[in-house]
Amino acid sequence: MNKFFDTEESMKFVSVSDSDKYILTAIQKIYLNNNRFDLDPTYSKGVFYKKFGIEEPHFKSDINPQYKDVIKADSRNLCFKSNELHSIIFDPPFLFRDRISKNTDLMCTRFSYFNTYDELINMYSESLLEFYRILKNKGFVIFKCQDMTDGSGSRPFYDTHVDIIKIARNIGFSLRDIVILTKFNKIIKNSKKQGCFRKIHSYYLIFRKEKKVNFGEM
Ligand SMILES: C[S@@+](CC[C@H](N)C(=O)[O-])C[C@H]1O[C@@H](n2cnc3c(N)ncnc32)[C@H](O)[C@@H]1O
Repeated sequence: MNKFFDTEESMKFVSVSDSDKYILTAIQKIYLNNNRFDLDPTYSKGVFYKKFGIEEPHFKSDINPQYKDVIKADSRNLCFKSNELHSIIFDPPFLFRDRISKNTDLMCTRFSYFNTYDELINMYSESLLEFYRILKNKGFVIFKCQDMTDGSGSRPFYDTHVDIIKIARNIGFSLRDIVILTKFNKIIKNSKKQGCFRKIHSYYLIFRKEKKVNFGEM
């Protein structure tokens, strides 16, 4: 299950893997008492469950549902009561580009890319606020994300995972863990000059909702 360590039996899961299945299984065992996720608000085609064999979440939604049993909802405005859920797995788009997409599938294009980094960060931030509202105290958000750059180094390095951690902490989450997913088989285009490391990894950030301390009540 893991290229480096196969330690599932002995519960010694390690923090780097080339397998989403290994990471998601480990997260459920370590943090969720081996329970399934309560909500996946960016369900898409459900690759996590249909391909990797993870148990389907209790609730599934997406702004652009691909199946009839997936609720149409924006992750910034969800139809749950406050303090209702134990866990959320969030896998939003991580790309942005300021040019018109060549992809002819308009719906797919519209929800797969952001126009700017600010737009991406705003969506992440507003979604985290909504997750904070609907999660119970000590509930978990598992946030899959990736940094952005290009191979030549001509664009800035967008260390997205750092911004997400800052935003989540500001809202009232604590960062409990980071797991790195590597893709050694990723196709990397040639460029004349290499200006930075080519990224073959993404992150699973594990956040926990903490109670806000109201000093006025002390
Ligand atoms: C990277 S895909 C998720 C893949 C999914 N984890 C899977 O296993 O198939 C991102 C999904 O986020 C959805 N999305 C984009 N913006 C959204 C929003 N504001 N609210 C809810 N879903 C959104 C897209 O429609 C897309 O299906």
